[in-house]
Amino acid sequence: MARLVTPSKRYWNSYRRALAGFHAEKRFLRQDTPRLLKDPAGYLRALRDEARGVHLPPGWVPATTYWLVEEGTFIGRVTIRHRLNAYLRDEGGHIGYAVRASKRRKGYGTQLLRRALAKAAAMGLKRVLVTCDDTNVGSRKIIEANGGVLENRKRAASGVLKRRYWIRIHAKTRK
Ligand SMILES: CC(C)(COP(=O)(O)OP(=O)(O)OC[C@H]1O[C@@H](n2cnc3c(N)ncnc32)[C@H](O)[C@@H]1OP(=O)(O)O)[C@@H](O)C(=O)NCCC(=O)NCCS
Repeated sequence: MARLVTPSKRYWNSYRRALAGFHAEKRFLRQDTPRLLKDPAGYLRALRDEARGVHLPPGWVPATTYWLVEEGTFIGRVTIRHRLNAYLRDEGGHIGYAVRASKRRKGYGTQLLRRALAKAAAMGLKRVLVTCDDTNVGSRKIIEANGGVLENRKRAASGVLKRRYWIRIHAKTRK
């Protein structure tokens, strides 16, 4: 069964291979610098720092990243921002996620958001904003399957047309 874990060395090689695929799709995390990619311990430390709100660039909010793994394999990642800033309210939302290309359309994305909502509940969040590009059918289905209520479709400051959903997190939300 897949589960969410704190990023660790154990899954690094599997993660690194998936990351090459994310980069080919022009999907980067702030930690994906040439220096940190050669230094797994430093990379993992940078993720932990981000969760603790340490060494954040000006204006950035603390955010916790989890990896969805199954039998030693990295499947996907999810990042939960602890609060919104102007950019996140407009476009990015509280929760961002990605599933490695070879594992898509098997239900992992839906599961990833469901498990992330349980983590968000444990962090004390009551309601989260989750957004996707208007054209991202997979993400839209994931959000709606997890109780997303559409607030609006809106052209974000970046020019991208976004769907902005709110998900109310119930106390009974399970992992
Ligand atoms: C979007 C993404 C997370 C979907 O992950 P996934 O593991 O394929 O999602 P699921 O298997 O849970 O699919 C959920 C639903 O969307 C559908 N779906 C998934 N990808 C789809 C696609 N490219 N086109 C149409 N439908 C799609 C699935 O068939 C499923 O439909 P169903 O509920 O009617 O059966 C994945 O494609 C991804 O990581 N993309 C790049 C990153 C990204 O876009 N992240 C989201 C940012 S908001």
